[in-house]
Amino acid sequence: PCFQLAKQLKKNPKLIAEELKERLSEDIGSEGKECESKENKGKECEGKESESKQSKGKDNEGKDNEDKESKRKENESKDRDSIDKESKGQENKDKETEYISKVEAVNGYLNIFMNREIFIGKILREASGKEYGSADTGKGKTICMDYSSPNIAKNFHVGHLRTTIIGNSLYKLYSKLGYSVVRINHLGDWGTQFGKQIVAYKNWSSKEQVEEGGIAELLRVYIIFDREAEKNPALQEEARAWFAKMEQGDEEALILWKWFKEISLKEFERVYKLLNIEFDSYCGESFYMDKVPALVEELKEKRLLEESDGAGIIKLDDYHMPPCLITKKDGSSIYHSRDIAAALYRKETYDFSQCLYITGAEQKLHFAQIFKALEVMGYEWAEYMHHIPYGLVSMGGEKLSTRKGNVIYAEDILKEAVSLALTAIEEKNPNITEKEETAKKIGIGAVIYHDLANQLIKDVSFRWEEVLNFDGMSAPYIQYTYARAGSILRKIGREIEEQKVNTEYLKDDTSYELVKLVGQYPEVVREAAEKYEPSILARYAYSLAVQFNKFYQECRILTAEAGYQEARAFLCKVVQKTIKDAMSLLGIECPEEM
Ligand code: ARG
Repeated sequence: PCFQLAKQLKKNPKLIAEELKERLSEDIGSEGKECESKENKGKECEGKESESKQSKGKDNEGKDNEDKESKRKENESKDRDSIDKESKGQENKDKETEYISKVEAVNGYLNIFMNREIFIGKILREASGKEYGSADTGKGKTICMDYSSPNIAKNFHVGHLRTTIIGNSLYKLYSKLGYSVVRINHLGDWGTQFGKQIVAYKNWSSKEQVEEGGIAELLRVYIIFDREAEKNPALQEEARAWFAKMEQGDEEALILWKWFKEISLKEFERVYKLLNIEFDSYCGESFYMDKVPALVEELKEKRLLEESDGAGIIKLDDYHMPPCLITKKDGSSIYHSRDIAAALYRKETYDFSQCLYITGAEQKLHFAQIFKALEVMGYEWAEYMHHIPYGLVSMGGEKLSTRKGNVIYAEDILKEAVSLALTAIEEKNPNITEKEETAKKIGIGAVIYHDLANQLIKDVSFRWEEVLNFDGMSAPYIQYTYARAGSILRKIGREIEEQKVNTEYLKDDTSYELVKLVGQYPEVVREAAEKYEPSILARYAYSLAVQFNKFYQECRILTAEAGYQEARAFLCKVVQKTIKDAMSLLGIECPEEM
């Protein structure tokens, strides 16, 4: 209730002041007096935020006080009238107000004094529970999340790495809130490009070369195709013919296509394994190809399909959008129509309450068209489809490991991060056990955190010294704090029970600030999910680590006297647990030692 109060207070101090006065009428006796008590000078004046909005010119003060007085009287008589009704609610009211030790209205300001011990006790109790931060908001609801979705025979690049990382974190956040999430990898595995790939393979590669070189080899010959087709249009014709064969179910064409897909998936799987990521469905574009004819029929029935230059389109002029292409001249499906078919299939199969698509911002128009098309088709649920766009990833002008040529592979970045982390471990703490495992957690964690630390829509510039920074806002810094807290707890060497903690010993400002931060966790989780913004969680984890380090510096734990030691160690444990949980929701593991 305290945080809700503080939030409301920011939004509407007047309203909340009235409500509080009503609840705590006995405390509102000090109007007009100066805010002069000792605590009042400290941070306890939680209500101060309302100052700027509340403060008025002197002239108004008298009137204000009059108003308050009459309101108070009104409330008092209301109170008397409803004593019977309220006696039942009294217990709850007491529970809510016990967190507040005093409320003062001073010169039009409202000062709320928190009852620190009670507040600390409540937070510690909640935070030490197994499900801290969880909620059942999503109980019985399903969310489809379409993310990662790389293209077959193309490199899994840094952009795909971003959607994979963002999607994974949103999946974890929504699962924490009780939703059932379907993780869909909408592979780019259909389209004219596969006709080109077949021609390219047949002309310039071989079975052995592809088996040896994988995606890089497929890409190599694809690039040759593009170059040669410019000079020789017959190649384009040939490619078109092969794709047509694919659409008609030609065996040779499909065997090749399947093989390219297997080779590609093997490489994508390596990235997913490094990131510890799984999917519930790999239904890519090819899965929806044969569902487009039914869509075309439906559109014709609904009189929405128009012809333009032989192609089938849905006009969206009324919505100031270019038309949504449904079929090409030759009748084949395209990216748009496969996406509309996919949405219909997902609604039918999963009955989602939301369907999210995580791709680069350059696909904004595409999704706006898809959602609009569904809306004009009469599907009200189109409003529960959301595109979550993210900014571009640039490589910060640095030379990166590009072993496979001049394209950047996500796998190389992840491996490089792990190897740099291993070097750092060798330098900083060569004696730790499980070096390789730890390096993996640090390296991968660093890349993930770097992608999630800023608002999704912001462009990311990738610089190694930032990514693997052990001091600044980075995963290694937070992980290091986690390990440090663990090491303190190991040194204390005994389990501390919550009942044995005297919250009196945590009332100092530094400890109290730390407790408050821990107390914000459930709200942070909720907000990050609601706004589709894992950065809120990423930044929270960092502030928790910063405040913990401050606490560790200012409040002795290992050498503290009895009483203090238990309380601080318990707080340390709760913080450690919250850091780990927050990081896990980002998709980052925390090593016990580093
Ligand atoms: N394969 C696409 C790309 O790499 C992303 C697909 C996103 N999902 C979708 N349903 N369109 O850009």
